[in-house]
Amino acid sequence: MQQHISQALTLEDINTLPLEDVLRFLEGLYEHSEWIVKNTLQQRPFPSVANLQWQLTQTLDQSDSASQLRLIQAHPELTGKAAIDKTHLTRDSQNEQSLAGLAFCSPQEYEELQQLNLAYSKKFGFPFVLAVRGPRALGLSRQEIILTLKRRLRNTPAYEQQEAIRNIHRIAELRLHEKLGLQCPQGERVWDWHEQLARHSEDEELDPHTRTQKLTATFLSTAHQAVAQDIRHLMLSSGFDEVTQDAVGNVVGKYHAKASNHPGRSPTVMIGSHYDTVRNGGKYDGRLGILSAVACVEMLHAQQTRLNVALEVVAFSEEEGQRFAATFLSSSALCGQFQSAWLDQTDSNGVTLSQAMQSAGLNPQEIPGLQRDPSQYLGFLEVHIEQGPVLCHQHLPLGIVSSINGSVRYTGQIVGRASHAGTTPMDDRQDAVCAAAAIALCMERLAREMPTSVATMGLFNVPKGSINVVPGQVQFSMDMRAPSDDLRDALAKKVLDEAHRICSERGVSLELTQTLKISAAPSDEKLKSHWHRALEHLGLPEFVLPSGAGHDAMKMHDIMPQAMLFVRGLNSGISHNPLESTSAQDMQLGVDALAHVLHQIDASMQSTH
Ligand code: GLV
Ligand code: MN
Ligand code: MN
Repeated sequence: MQQHISQALTLEDINTLPLEDVLRFLEGLYEHSEWIVKNTLQQRPFPSVANLQWQLTQTLDQSDSASQLRLIQAHPELTGKAAIDKTHLTRDSQNEQSLAGLAFCSPQEYEELQQLNLAYSKKFGFPFVLAVRGPRALGLSRQEIILTLKRRLRNTPAYEQQEAIRNIHRIAELRLHEKLGLQCPQGERVWDWHEQLARHSEDEELDPHTRTQKLTATFLSTAHQAVAQDIRHLMLSSGFDEVTQDAVGNVVGKYHAKASNHPGRSPTVMIGSHYDTVRNGGKYDGRLGILSAVACVEMLHAQQTRLNVALEVVAFSEEEGQRFAATFLSSSALCGQFQSAWLDQTDSNGVTLSQAMQSAGLNPQEIPGLQRDPSQYLGFLEVHIEQGPVLCHQHLPLGIVSSINGSVRYTGQIVGRASHAGTTPMDDRQDAVCAAAAIALCMERLAREMPTSVATMGLFNVPKGSINVVPGQVQFSMDMRAPSDDLRDALAKKVLDEAHRICSERGVSLELTQTLKISAAPSDEKLKSHWHRALEHLGLPEFVLPSGAGHDAMKMHDIMPQAMLFVRGLNSGISHNPLESTSAQDMQLGVDALAHVLHQIDASMQSTH
């Protein structure tokens, strides 16, 4: 819950005091642009601070482009020491820029910042605006600021204008929270826990764009196992009654129901998401769903509260399909769908899944015993970072998932004929790479023709290729997704037909193996209505969107009702990328929404007793 520090004005004051007083109090929220606050205050009363913030974004969205540009132009340049010392910045900007360490720029950094600022304003015609206090309000490092400026210089002017506005709203959010003395303790804790888990990576390399260590934690790597241990300790110290690691590597924390409700077994709500990552992934994909649930249990425990339902928080060990061809290993185990044949699959080093599990101390023989009895569960809830641009562009912190798109995946191999690159005439080649490339382009065209569908060739490998050899072999993957199973199947059929045609015309052989076929998963109406009520309680628009990404929830869907909540991602929601990010304020709202849903379920159980 957002906490309020005494002395500051409250939301109640904003809703009820004379307009001039409120305007004076909110002065400086937007740089030299009082009209934004003034117009927004016509919407009083606001049910929540989050609602006020959203209304502010709407006022600006409804204004014309010239007013938006003037607002951006009213911002001071990010300067560095020399100029911060002079006082042409507002006091708030001075504080923000100093907090971000710009007051301590070296002469070289100062010079670099000046050059970049110059290039930026030349390209866009407005100053570079960045919420330099960052997603956790601790201040971005100078390196982060400079790298962000370089990255944003590559944007188109139209996009960059909107990105500047999103940063302006973030600056206003932090200023508003400060004026109101609001804090987000659970949001900050959850944010910090992500940092803690992100210390463990199997990749030593630096990402060239962020210059931070790549975050990779694939199934049962040392880093992945270290993350599991951290989650186990975190659950134990947060007040869970039982914490175990199961045979497939899931960390499972249980928080018992009220003792008085124990004559039989209390119904259980399962909450969770995954802790494995893609290679060079983001910090929040999956883990946010685990850590938001841990924060809820921590709050219940601190309040010495037990619910009429038991909570089972599952940190799923594998969802990303990085190390082995099979994926959703963890949720499949809980659904009783783990196939023993998967144990013989090998990773790129020839280690079988079975060997990997045994060397991590897991016993594959015990996997069948992990199957859950659906009759004991009320359903599955998953909070997840959106991984797309929708919420970010709508200025909405939270969104309710209507349905998760279905997907199908293949791994493929094309065998042609390796031959001399200098002597083999162009019309006498059996080039495996060219065939795969033609298939990739065909996937792109076909998916574009079905606007709600997507198709990706994410793996592309020429084994032992040489610069002067026509490739005789290529290995690749195909991932195709659509909002319904029918659309997914229609796309897959077209792609497969075309792939066979292309290979036969080029005289190469094609081998395809289906590695995943998972149904689209519409959210359960009742659970979804709980999310609606939670957002209503938070004073947020009840925005609904589909999930393009796959989630543990879509597998749990096979045996129990499920409904997901999305949290806005910064940087236009980029994901499977180290730039994936979300703020402590948005995390707080996610935790608050989840807690509200749990209390609703609790209350509904009370009324049935
Ligand atoms: C998981 O992140 C997926 O959608 O591939
Ligand atoms: Mn992912
Ligand atoms: Mn995920």
